[in-house]
Amino acid sequence: MRVIRESSREAVDRAVFEEFCAALRRRPAGVIGLATGGTFSAFFARIAQAVAAGELEMGEVRATHLDEYLGFDHDQRGGMVHELTSLCPPLRQMLDEDRFWPVPASGDAGAVQEHEQRLAEVGGVDIQFLGIGRNGHIGFNEPGTSFDLGFHRVHLAPTTRADARDRFAPDEPPYEAVTAGPKSILKARRIVLSAVGAAKAPAVRAMLEGPIDPQCPASCVRYHADSVVYLDPEAAAELGESAAAMS
Ligand code: GLP
Repeated sequence: MRVIRESSREAVDRAVFEEFCAALRRRPAGVIGLATGGTFSAFFARIAQAVAAGELEMGEVRATHLDEYLGFDHDQRGGMVHELTSLCPPLRQMLDEDRFWPVPASGDAGAVQEHEQRLAEVGGVDIQFLGIGRNGHIGFNEPGTSFDLGFHRVHLAPTTRADARDRFAPDEPPYEAVTAGPKSILKARRIVLSAVGAAKAPAVRAMLEGPIDPQCPASCVRYHADSVVYLDPEAAAELGESAAAMS
């Protein structure tokens, strides 16, 4: 795993966008695994802008993503597919053309199996983007999740629901979701995790300097041979010298 300490949040956004462009160049008909959340909002806006300006061609690429709230429709406010397609109209078009494959929000075993099979049949995910939760989660894999789990249904942790409160207000955030498990995430050929802001500093430290343990789900990314972590100064603030040396 490489850890890259960028000089600013904008530099992280640039690096992540470059990763995306490089993945498109490497395999124009490949599969991109997207992540949601504030960490990636500038990234999606940038993709949309580049496509609209004719600077970026999505070509034959396929997209999928990490997680969805249980039972959510693609157009449901607060949902992950709604977030992705609203922030990035090219993804809306890909969804309409069946080139963006959402996580089956029903959590139904058959649908989940079909989704995993579809990804496997096209050669798996080429690059998986990841954020990290304050509690060290990736996707919706909350602390304590076995690294052996594939796609599965989850109960959201109180911190996760608290962080999701704004996107659902005045309604309550959901209690359950469907997520790619650590096992599915680690199958991607390359993993790009990014974290920005001081709220993520303790989770980043646990991920990089703590034990590789389900108590910090993001620590499983250290098992992956081709993984890179981009941090802004605030998210890297609690790292010791060893992580600095990894840069
Ligand atoms: C949600 C998503 C995660 C994401 C995390 C961080 O919980 N399920 O995939 O990484 O939020 O979100 P943010 O970037 O808004 O901090």
